[in-house]
Amino acid sequence: MAEGSSQLLTALVVVVLASVMAKPVLMSSEGRSAPAVFVFGDSLFDVGNNNFLPLSIAKADFPHNGVDFPGGTPTGRFSNGYNIADCLAKSYGFNASPSAFLSLTEAQLEKSIHEGINFASAGSGILEITGSQLGEVISMDAQIQYFNTSLQSFTAGRHSSARRAPLSKSIFLISAGSNDLFGFYQSNASPSNLTTSEFITLMTSKHREQLRTLYSLGARRFGIMGLGLIGCCPSQRILTASGGCVAELNDYALQFHLALKKVLGKLSSMHKGMKYSLGEGHTMATMITSQPLTYGFKEVTNACCGCGRLDGQFACTPIATLCTDRESHYFWDWFHPTETAAKLFAKMLYGGTPELASPINFRELAED
Ligand SMILES: *[C@@H]1O[C@H](CO)[C@@H](O)[C@H](O)[C@H]1NC(C)=O
Ligand SMILES: *[C@@H]1O[C@H](CO)[C@@H](O)[C@H](O)[C@H]1NC(C)=O
Repeated sequence: MAEGSSQLLTALVVVVLASVMAKPVLMSSEGRSAPAVFVFGDSLFDVGNNNFLPLSIAKADFPHNGVDFPGGTPTGRFSNGYNIADCLAKSYGFNASPSAFLSLTEAQLEKSIHEGINFASAGSGILEITGSQLGEVISMDAQIQYFNTSLQSFTAGRHSSARRAPLSKSIFLISAGSNDLFGFYQSNASPSNLTTSEFITLMTSKHREQLRTLYSLGARRFGIMGLGLIGCCPSQRILTASGGCVAELNDYALQFHLALKKVLGKLSSMHKGMKYSLGEGHTMATMITSQPLTYGFKEVTNACCGCGRLDGQFACTPIATLCTDRESHYFWDWFHPTETAAKLFAKMLYGGTPELASPINFRELAED
């Protein structure tokens, strides 16, 4: 890393920390800055929906997952503890992510619609076909339909819609796109006759349609995670002889990010009341992995739980190797961050400068 850019990073760190400590947000009586949080997307946000998909092989409801979760319980989160959706929900004043949609009974659903629901499903992407090689996933379109159904059944039910959390003030968290790109790179789970730019155009236009559908259902405040250095996960590093990052994947992620940024700018100018914050995943991941010690990480390459080369050759299972210094690992397993890294991402998204989340941060998304 050139000295100039490391100075820039140090400057960014200072700015980030300063803004994290900035002015307080107006809190409700429960200490929450948003009435509800609705969560959509992939395994970065899944809190147990896939536990209920009998044919899915993308699961984490067994040890060592959850080893640092309260009670040491595996919940379906791909983490040693809480994941990014949890840490973001905590920032808004909730105890954790809202519950997994598929875990809710009808009575619980009626209650949950006031505080939020998590629809995220590990392995899913933006495109319908993404994740199909994993047996079963809830695609983004299906997640949005579940949300629609939840709203419909509630409005049709005995409760008046007046009691429902105001959707226009609720936060809609989305983590999507990396599985589409992993699939495209491996070309075993995507339309393989497309060029990279055609594929990214396809993803972007599909995602625009999904955001518009959510808007039509009442969503106004979108907090979008943004793709980071997806080619630097242990699972991808092991594909290179040197153990370095897969540069193509990082490049695809950046291309998608730039295309999505344009789409969001246009959408918000065309749709009254729409607000969004897009995480600069690329910048966040670069900052952390180029100066790990600044953030308390000693290991930013190998997974904490896994097996084989870089402990990145297979998922975290009960027979996998488990590291003891989980606090100082960046990767939990072959694809996912540790709880420590998840907390840091959430902090950057919630309180960061426009270099980390733009045009506003996730905290500002909840304001007024
Ligand atoms: C939501 O569900 C209702 C009732 O099933 C349906 O009429 C409507 O088209 C759905 N909306 C969207 C955006 O899919
Ligand atoms: C790719 O193949 C699909 C189905 O065979 C077809 O519909 C699509 O037009 C093709 N795309 C390109 C860019 O050739």
